[in-house]
Amino acid sequence: MEVITERKATTKEEQEQEQEEEAQADVEIWNYVFGFVKVAVVKCAIELGIADAIENHGGPMTLSELSSALNCAPSCLHRVMRFLVHNQIFKEKPTSHGSIAFEQTAISRRFIKHGQNSMAAFVLLENGPEMVASWINLSAGVQVNGTPAFKAAHGKDIWSYAVGDGSFSKVINDAMACGARVVTVPAIIKGCPEVFDGVGSLVDVGGGNGTALGLLVKAFIWIRGINFDLPHVVCDAEESHGVENVGGDMFQSIPMADAIFIMQVLHDWGDDECIEILKKCREAIPKDNGKVIIVETIMEEEENLGDELKSVRLKIDMAMMAHTDKGKERTLKEWDYVLGQAGFSRHNVKHIRAVHSVIEAYP
Ligand SMILES: C[S@@+](CC[C@H](N)C(=O)[O-])C[C@H]1O[C@@H](n2cnc3c(N)ncnc32)[C@H](O)[C@@H]1O
Repeated sequence: MEVITERKATTKEEQEQEQEEEAQADVEIWNYVFGFVKVAVVKCAIELGIADAIENHGGPMTLSELSSALNCAPSCLHRVMRFLVHNQIFKEKPTSHGSIAFEQTAISRRFIKHGQNSMAAFVLLENGPEMVASWINLSAGVQVNGTPAFKAAHGKDIWSYAVGDGSFSKVINDAMACGARVVTVPAIIKGCPEVFDGVGSLVDVGGGNGTALGLLVKAFIWIRGINFDLPHVVCDAEESHGVENVGGDMFQSIPMADAIFIMQVLHDWGDDECIEILKKCREAIPKDNGKVIIVETIMEEEENLGDELKSVRLKIDMAMMAHTDKGKERTLKEWDYVLGQAGFSRHNVKHIRAVHSVIEAYP
């Protein structure tokens, strides 16, 4: 049996450093004990519509104005607002009558339910009962021969579960749509518009309710768009000018077009399925001048301390582990592997101002 003896700090400096680390850990531990509280209170704020009320009011609101607008008990709302102000989600502003009002910040505007920059639907998806249940089962999926976390919680994988639960399916589609509208598609349009030069027709594989493709077709008006997703998803998709909705299964066949756009779909799948989907994409485009435009996170192989989005990428990778059977975020080497196995001859990567990058893959 291996005996591990605790190493004692020897020098004075080592002892001081150890004491400092212990003191930090005494504080830091509470972030783990109550790690869920911040997002739970934000979710509560979204559900109550606190940011919406302040926005509709057209300026800062006092506690009594907010309480009556939202039909909340002032004593409870005061405690919620105190927490949110402490976490810099709303700001306090003195009124001319000597009381305090609450005003919006850049981050609270992301929590307006239907605002231009709203990410509320994404917060509600990731912190709703279905996804939280999969996080609770995370360790089950990590074990050898373990059941993937979402399946352990719900008995089936996320996409089969969504077929049978229309309201969960809508929560997913709304969340994906706001991520596309606020973050990813504007970064693509600004960061690499040349990717869409000469593309007459474009299929968005796993395009959800068609929001991303609608934005692309609006920015690049020469494109005819085909939004392709599972039948129960596209039947709820919004009609949008220049976009046709087609239901189907990407493992069976994908509509033909000049190019395929596939965003945050391949990361839901393990390598074998990913290669299968990429082969179907390759079959759907012209051999001579077609391409597949992949929008995904690329994990770095080396630590890059200057990259402020690295921790987000690591979180998304954990989310793939929690929410899908074999999904994962891939390194460049892993992308080289799946694209090579799917028969693509070459690819290039474009980095944009987002968590995601754009990979152009050619047959
Ligand atoms: C993570 S979402 C990405 C949505 C969208 N591309 C985005 O980034 O906003 C994955 C999408 O893949 C779709 N999907 C899952 N299995 C599919 C299949 N077999 N055929 C077509 N679409 C599928 C889901 O319905 C969902 O809309």
